[in-house]
Amino acid sequence: MQPFNDTFIKACLKQKVDHVPVWYMRQVGRYQPEYRKIKETNSLLDIVHQPELCAEITKLAVDQLNVDASILFSDIMVPLGPMGVKYDIVENRGPVLEKPFRTAADINSLRPIEPEQDLPYVIETIKILKQNLHVPLIGFTGAPFTLASYMIEGAPSRDYLRTKEMMYSAPTVWHTLMEKLGDMIITYLKAQVSAGASAVQIFDSWVGALAPQDYRQYVYPTMKRIFSELAEIDAPKIYFGVGSGELLPIWKELDTNVIGLDWRVSIQAGRERIGNRFAVQGNLDPTLLLAPWSVLERRAKEIIDMGIEQPGFIFNLGHGVFPEVDGAKLKDLTTFIHEYSASQLSQK
Ligand code: CP3
Repeated sequence: MQPFNDTFIKACLKQKVDHVPVWYMRQVGRYQPEYRKIKETNSLLDIVHQPELCAEITKLAVDQLNVDASILFSDIMVPLGPMGVKYDIVENRGPVLEKPFRTAADINSLRPIEPEQDLPYVIETIKILKQNLHVPLIGFTGAPFTLASYMIEGAPSRDYLRTKEMMYSAPTVWHTLMEKLGDMIITYLKAQVSAGASAVQIFDSWVGALAPQDYRQYVYPTMKRIFSELAEIDAPKIYFGVGSGELLPIWKELDTNVIGLDWRVSIQAGRERIGNRFAVQGNLDPTLLLAPWSVLERRAKEIIDMGIEQPGFIFNLGHGVFPEVDGAKLKDLTTFIHEYSASQLSQK
């Protein structure tokens, strides 16, 4: 096996690196012919329940793309199953629930999880990966707002109508839901780290739908508790959201190590909003992977130039890789990021 590459962890901790580390959200997925082949006979959840297969496809992306970190193959919905949420992940659509969670009784029925008993296949996948990877493994979970949005809407949503309705109309019920999800997140991430995850990312993909004042009132208290209870884990923490630029002045009060940005906020503007306590991850618009190489390269260069102005930068996309992307281009991008950033950093 290759020597262990800990550049990603160093960047999360704002330590000196010789190249900018890179990984891609949804680096495992339908853009890969091998993944599409496995999906012909296995659903996403079938894969998650088979640790050997799940570890294999998690590692395949690392080997194909030569990225500096691996992300566990799973889905944010997976730990909701043992809490009592019946869902399916529908092709080209996303998570769908048989019966959405709308009432106090629905929320009260949610159970706490015990990861080793309830999600043994996730723990086993992490243990296998720990033995076989030469880069850090990132464990992950969804954040309370984003998970709640699927539970309450019952399907992917544009306006989060029912979610916000519960938030405004039944704040006590909403708060109970946030706290139950918060408990799950803390327990689940601790278990992932105990099993071998070297870093953890909390995906708050849809929280950008909230006004800062609503985030402050209805979401922030739970996020604050999650990060303070995770202070003891020996793994850097990453908090990521789409369209969350206006929330950054609030996020800067959270005890996370890394803040993930989407492409709507430049690395520079993001740093101005959060100060210099955090490492920053991001933020190429994933659509640029469909642009001609010269356009893609120029945009990647601009991001790297801003990123390396300060210690603590991890290259990523502003959101996940689309199925339409050519894997060879993604690999070329990795090579470019490594080589260009190494040459720039060596002159510093
Ligand atoms: O490589 C990786 O990124 C690891 C795997 C991963 C998946 N889901 C697999 C998956 C991760 C980290 C997730 C997290 C996830 N799941 C998030 C947060 C990240 C984000 O994208 O914002 C969210 C919001 C979900 C919920 C979800 N799951 C949606 C909205 C969809 C449909 C999207 C689509 O493109 O169809 C899914 C399905 C899903 N999860 C796919 C994958 C590879 C695509 C469909 C499939 O392969 O069956």
